[in-house]
Amino acid sequence: MTPNQSDRRDGSWLSPIIHLSSNWVSLTGVVIVTTATVFWLFLLPVTLRGTTESPYVGILAFLVLPAPFFAGLILIPLGIWLKRKREGRAGIYPPEFPPLTWHNAELRRLVYFVFFTTMVNLAIASQVSYSAVNYLDSVTFCGETCHTVMQPEYTAYQNSPHSRVECVKCHIGPGASWFVRSKLSGVGQVLAVTFHTYSTPIPTPVRSLRPARETCEACHWPQKYGEDRVLIINKFADDESNTLSKTVLLMKIGGGNRGIGIHGTHLGSGVLIRYAHADEGRQNIPWIEYNGPGGKTVYATPAAKPDGGGLPIRDMDCVDCHNRPTHAYELPERAVDRAIYAGQISPSLPFAKKRAVEIVKGSYSTREEAAQKIPAAFEKYYRDNYPAIWAQRRAEVTSAAQQVLAVYDRNIFPEMKVAWGTYPNNIGHTDFPGCFRCHDGNHVAKDGRSVTQDCNACHNLLAMDEANPKVLTDLGIVESKPPEQK
Ligand code: HEC
Ligand code: HEC
Ligand code: HEC
Ligand code: HEC
Ligand code: HEC
Repeated sequence: MTPNQSDRRDGSWLSPIIHLSSNWVSLTGVVIVTTATVFWLFLLPVTLRGTTESPYVGILAFLVLPAPFFAGLILIPLGIWLKRKREGRAGIYPPEFPPLTWHNAELRRLVYFVFFTTMVNLAIASQVSYSAVNYLDSVTFCGETCHTVMQPEYTAYQNSPHSRVECVKCHIGPGASWFVRSKLSGVGQVLAVTFHTYSTPIPTPVRSLRPARETCEACHWPQKYGEDRVLIINKFADDESNTLSKTVLLMKIGGGNRGIGIHGTHLGSGVLIRYAHADEGRQNIPWIEYNGPGGKTVYATPAAKPDGGGLPIRDMDCVDCHNRPTHAYELPERAVDRAIYAGQISPSLPFAKKRAVEIVKGSYSTREEAAQKIPAAFEKYYRDNYPAIWAQRRAEVTSAAQQVLAVYDRNIFPEMKVAWGTYPNNIGHTDFPGCFRCHDGNHVAKDGRSVTQDCNACHNLLAMDEANPKVLTDLGIVESKPPEQK
């Protein structure tokens, strides 16, 4: 056997490649490929196990990392080819190569190099990946990264009972299949933001939202989530003294699975309500099918076609009523009422309610413009019409003026075309159709029964716009005036 033959068997055809690959272009390729691989291997278990709920980890693993990986892969042969050409032209390409043993200095150098970069990468990736995954799951990432896009939802969220609940808890929820689905829609979202193809305002409802019972019920104990409760609504009039009145309702929320009350009748055990909607926003509902312990009943408007006439059909869940559990935008009157009741806008400023509502309803083309004009307009009103108040209680007026601006800032986002009432709230029936999308007396079954509009089915109206409702005094709830009117 000639030495040459034995070389061929132990892989001497590799020797020229080893020799040629020692060049800057190829080595850079090696660094990039190992880096991408090591990071990818760190992300892989997280992605597969679904221990993170952020779609962006998947984007990182499946969209971002492969790019440098393949770029690196291209660099390696490119460098080899360039070096071969260069050495060929200069006539320094070696006619023979040492065998591929540990004595081959070029092989040794390459092995050390790969080993060293891998070690460095392992050290970095083990530190970085974990915090990257945590960060991508965080509210800061969801709310602030795409600042303009998410600003309305993020602001309304911070101002809600769920301000301590992470976005992903409601929007994605646990479980592998929703995880994959959200990953796919997450890819679309990133592209939409990158290329500015998202719609303004962001459309509601969210079509790919996980069935709410599976997300909400992770925290809201289904057997409870509500017993009857007293709801007090405070309103201030448009008059000079901002007169306070109260509406008191006993909401028949009902216990989860006890087939009664608001929750029980729609979501109690054995109950399934399906409905057909004629619009994307699910505001126009011509056909309802109630499946309950007593069998099936179909309620329909006179115009509805049988079986919904091919319209999209949806199973009712929490979000059909609680569509604003956390992105709770307010209407101007209610928002100002709340600010006055909380003492942020002094109720002793004449016509404060009327002026504040007029001002926040004005049109401003940007939030910056509003930030200048709103406080100025409120202050000017007192300066011009109540010079005595302006002279003696200026601090009170200016702080109220800032709170009027805060009402605007919580609710209006011109850049995203979010204005007063852009997002309907389905709880109730006075501001938006809400419950009356179905409970309007117009949805009738074959036997003549209709989805009830009886005023006492959902609540007992204990007092309506009264100054001092007797029921509150009876209950011992005597605090009926905001601090400054006591
Ligand atoms: C308590 C549950 C919950 C949390 C927490 C939550 N959302 Fe939502 N989100 C919803 C629901 C419910 C909807 C409306 C879905 C519908 O009507 O179908 C929604 C809708 C949205 C929409 C669509 C536009 C709209 O207002 O209807 C965006 C965007 C959004 N959420 C972003 C976020 C961001 C960002 C966070 C974290 C800062 C977050 N959400 C936290 C429940 C939640
Ligand atoms: C991660 C836990 C968590 C999830 C998920 C969650 N909630 Fe809540 N929710 C809470 C907590 C905690 C409160 C109580 C806040 C308080 O009392 O201030 C609350 C309060 C509420 C309230 C009462 C608000 C009020 O005015 O008293 C409603 C209604 C509600 N949640 C509906 C929902 C709906 C609908 C969903 C699903 C879209 C949901 N929640 C998902 C934790 C959660
Ligand atoms: C048919 C409409 C409807 C559906 C469906 C519905 N709710 Fe409610 N829920 C209400 C109404 C109305 C209230 C009372 C709101 C109020 O008084 O402001 C309420 C109140 C609540 C409260 C506050 C209870 C309290 O004691 O303060 C929670 C929490 C809640 N709902 C969670 C849920 C969850 C979770 C689901 C889904 C499993 C759900 N709701 C489904 C209409 C609904
Ligand atoms: C998608 C249609 C739909 C919407 C929206 C809807 N409901 Fe209902 N509701 C029904 C149906 C269907 C029934 C059951 C009728 C039956 O018993 O056959 C019902 C029954 C009820 C009952 C029991 C009535 C009784 O006679 O005992 C209450 C209470 C109720 N709903 C409250 C509400 C409240 C509060 C809202 C709004 C937050 C609301 N519903 C929104 C369809 C709807
Ligand atoms: C299908 C259930 C349902 C029926 C039927 C119903 N309501 Fe209501 N009503 C509600 C809910 C839910 C709210 C909102 C509670 C909240 O703001 O959280 C509400 C709120 C109100 C309010 C307070 C409005 C405000 O200023 O915020 C009044 C007043 C009222 N209802 C009167 C009536 C009258 C009068 C009738 C009979 C024509 C009636 N309701 C029938 C569910 C119902």
